[in-house]
Amino acid sequence: MNPKESLSKETYGYQMCLYQNFWCPKFSLEPVIALQRDFQACDTDIFVINMPKTGTTWFKSLLFSLFNRSNEGLLNTQLQTHNPHELILSLEITIYAKDKNPDLTKMPSPRLFSTHLPYDSLPESVKNSKCKIIYITRNPFDTFVSSWHYYSKLENVDNNVGCSSTMEEYFNKFCKGRSLYGPFFDHLMGYWKESLERPKKVLFLKYEDLKEDGVLQMKKVAEFVGFPFSIEEEKQGVVEDLIKLCSIESLKEMEVNKKGKCDPDFENKCFFRKGVVGDAANYLTPPMVERLTKIMEEKLNGSGLSF
Ligand code: A3P
Repeated sequence: MNPKESLSKETYGYQMCLYQNFWCPKFSLEPVIALQRDFQACDTDIFVINMPKTGTTWFKSLLFSLFNRSNEGLLNTQLQTHNPHELILSLEITIYAKDKNPDLTKMPSPRLFSTHLPYDSLPESVKNSKCKIIYITRNPFDTFVSSWHYYSKLENVDNNVGCSSTMEEYFNKFCKGRSLYGPFFDHLMGYWKESLERPKKVLFLKYEDLKEDGVLQMKKVAEFVGFPFSIEEEKQGVVEDLIKLCSIESLKEMEVNKKGKCDPDFENKCFFRKGVVGDAANYLTPPMVERLTKIMEEKLNGSGLSF
């Protein structure tokens, strides 16, 4: 029997299989195996890593704009004409899904990539080179609600017939760690530990902090990636302009995000829903909040990390 046939299966919008202790979407399994085998990180690479629905699209727009700022300002960049997912490509969802043997050597430095892989499943060269990782997380309540809105849309896709439909069923799976690239808490704890042990290698950010003080967080990011804002830029308000340009209101209004489609299953507009902190309160019942709070407290106990 093909060893892949023996992997445990589950659905969370997409079909998933349990691979290396995380729930890998079935469509990403081959690309993940290929990139784990072949991808060679450079010391100058920068990786955006997170669980789905924790702010991938937003952070890609911020990081891309940070690197593409110039004396002429921020506006004249490809962000106006491309969805952020086309500007910082995912290793498993885009690059290795399209080509099992991509030539990435011609990409300009620093190469910017994204992945949803847990720390333990990263290619060895990513862990061992001097490349940098920026990890973004979000409180599990809003992450879950966002993921439910998004992935339950897939239920009518032909090959997903049979996946669960109610929010309660999705919630049950999320709590059991059976969501895409989950378990959620194992994923974030893997990167949290690395960020404490190797702060120059892994910068750990929270969606909520980016919302509260984007300027402070992006100055931190710019320092971390070695492209800090100059005093002149700070005086000119470049950091504030960057935050404004990448706000959900601004990205939603861009033509490419209103009408485009860079993912076979989703229109670009699906990447931008509410973009607020605390939306989960509008959906989760008190027992649901209690259950997830208890899991969160157990998983994060003693880590120094909280939401
Ligand atoms: P909500 O569903 O809670 O609104 P991802 O990009 O990882 O798929 O995450 C999607 C979540 O990020 C969605 O959350 C989406 O609305 C939110 N988001 C997208 N762009 C954003 C932005 N510029 N600022 C804040 N949140 C944003």
